[in-house]
Amino acid sequence: MRILGIETSCDETAAAVVEDGERVLSNVVASQVDLHAQYGGVFPELASRMHVEAIGPVTAQALQEAHVGWSDLDAVAVTYGPGLPGSLLVGLNFAKGAALSAGLPLVPVNHLEGHLYAHWLHTDAREAAPDNPPAPRDFPLLALIVSGGHTELILMRGHGQYEYLGGTLDDAAGEAFDKVARMLGLPYPGGPAIERAARQGNPHACDLPRAWLPGTYDFSFSGLKTAVMRALRQYHEPSPRVISDMAAAFQVSVIEVLAEKTAQAAEAHRVHGVLLSGGVSANATLRAAVRARVTRSVHATPLWLCTDNGAMIAAAGTYRYQAGARAAWDLDIEPGLRLA
Ligand code: KG4
Ligand code: ZN
Repeated sequence: MRILGIETSCDETAAAVVEDGERVLSNVVASQVDLHAQYGGVFPELASRMHVEAIGPVTAQALQEAHVGWSDLDAVAVTYGPGLPGSLLVGLNFAKGAALSAGLPLVPVNHLEGHLYAHWLHTDAREAAPDNPPAPRDFPLLALIVSGGHTELILMRGHGQYEYLGGTLDDAAGEAFDKVARMLGLPYPGGPAIERAARQGNPHACDLPRAWLPGTYDFSFSGLKTAVMRALRQYHEPSPRVISDMAAAFQVSVIEVLAEKTAQAAEAHRVHGVLLSGGVSANATLRAAVRARVTRSVHATPLWLCTDNGAMIAAAGTYRYQAGARAAWDLDIEPGLRLA
């Protein structure tokens, strides 16, 4: 079974062909990161316009690299939420048009479910990674989804069965990385920039708060953001040393809480494994912190599948397709769609 996955929920225009829900035949991503960097964040109107320009060529390239034509496909899977309305509309309408004209069924996919199904993807070329094997298929599994728009702990009891354990009450983890990077004068996207700066920094040079919110699996990062802003006020122009120290202190404050709550939830629900998903899970310090605390197997999404892509949408779409999901032609976007 071959499914084309289309993803345009934020600032990546992506299309991919996946076989049997696991094997990545192609995965084409046109990132708009460089474009949005000059505005310090995603500029929604610009994002939709760029999606309109890119979606056709990106899809054509995905089919070409997979060596398949429309008649070799079984379905078209597309993200219909959550995400930026204008961006979602482009992918959904393109997918509708493509599926209708090719005589293929359209399968609606929740973007967050896509991040989870990225854990079962591989290519023939995937080199063995003994420290990060593909996720088990035994449930329950615990997923920490950390991206620019989401910070959630989800208990996955089976395919398509999700229980929301907790999540952020204000900023998403990635959003906090992006905002703090901006305060520190680091480029967008802030996550990789902070991780890089933090390597030279001392996390103990500056004492930043952690929002433990005891008795819950919830998170809050807005207080931390304000604390960074206040700590920065004492410098007229912070030196590279100060910036690195602040980046390291901020990073560890976010990661400690994420890792500790993930470990608590993993124990409480006796899960078979922990899945780290979403753009922020690319962070090596986060991966190490979770591995250090969790006694069960920890599976981080392979780096090339961490940020938004079409393969993860095709993977989740394959499962949904097999479960009988078909979108009607009047399917609309759901910018605030949730997993559970
Ligand atoms: O999953 P994603 O590509 O898009 C969303 O659905 O949001 O995640 C993007 C987010 C951005 O906020 C970016 O700063 C963050 O992931 N990110 C990181 C790292 N790489 C990307 N955050 C921390 N450390 C990283 N290495
Ligand atoms: Zn995402």
